[in-house]
Amino acid sequence: MIPVGEKFFMDTKYTRGKDLTPSRVIKIPEAYKEYTNVPTVFLPAPVVGGGESIWDVIRKRRSKRRYTGDIMTQKELSQLLWATQGITGRVSGFLLRSAPSAGALYPIETYLWIHRVEDLSMGIYHFNVKRFCLEMIRGGNYSTSLKEACLGQHMLSTCAVAFIWTAVIDRCRVKYGERAFRYIFMDVGHICQNLYLAATAMGLGCCAIGAFFDDEVNQILGLDGITESVIYIATVGKLT
Ligand SMILES: Cc1cc2nc3c(=O)[nH]c(=O)nc-3n(C[C@H](O)[C@H](O)[C@H](O)COP(=O)(O)O)c2cc1C
Repeated sequence: MIPVGEKFFMDTKYTRGKDLTPSRVIKIPEAYKEYTNVPTVFLPAPVVGGGESIWDVIRKRRSKRRYTGDIMTQKELSQLLWATQGITGRVSGFLLRSAPSAGALYPIETYLWIHRVEDLSMGIYHFNVKRFCLEMIRGGNYSTSLKEACLGQHMLSTCAVAFIWTAVIDRCRVKYGERAFRYIFMDVGHICQNLYLAATAMGLGCCAIGAFFDDEVNQILGLDGITESVIYIATVGKLT
């Protein structure tokens, strides 16, 4: 039997003469996800210029897993969100973001486990890209449940905030068919690298997390894990 990974690679290869466009009709999901009837928080405007040299930031970037437990400011959080998914351009009516995306389809959604952020209650939030605001979808302390969902990784209990990225698969699949599953992981890699670099430039610690029990994280976010599922996580916190 061919291992699933190899089969995936073979079946999603671009090959001359092979059609990868979807064979069934896919209903296009909304381009921007929005939670209505939930508390909304508008963040301070990010600073979009100046700062440390990109070369120094790239050289200094490291995965940092030990945090002081100090509170992050809303301004810092705003800066990180802008670096990862801020709107930075417009081409023929389409809004473009700080990280590239295959076909400018932007299948990735950002959720936050807000643990220690100035004047924000603990809980799970969704980042509304278009309005640049946070939507609180679940209040409460998720440090233990998220730590357990991430195979006991302690940084979920000590971080100021964790970015939890999900993919709305059909946003990308509608154009690329099953090859979309390659592109969504490339997209999220770009986003996470922007987070790493922004956190480094701001003197904050950041660590990517690929090890998690998908179903447990999806349950915490209230997602079905099929049309939309967690694909990557990263913690950010203050350094000593
Ligand atoms: C896809 C991916 C998944 C990762 N998952 C984890 C993880 O679950 N836990 C962790 O502590 N570090 C994780 N890391 C961080 C790596 O361990 C780290 O990038 C690597 O050791 C190199 O160190 P550096 O980032 O400091 O250069 C992950 C990194 C990537 C790119």
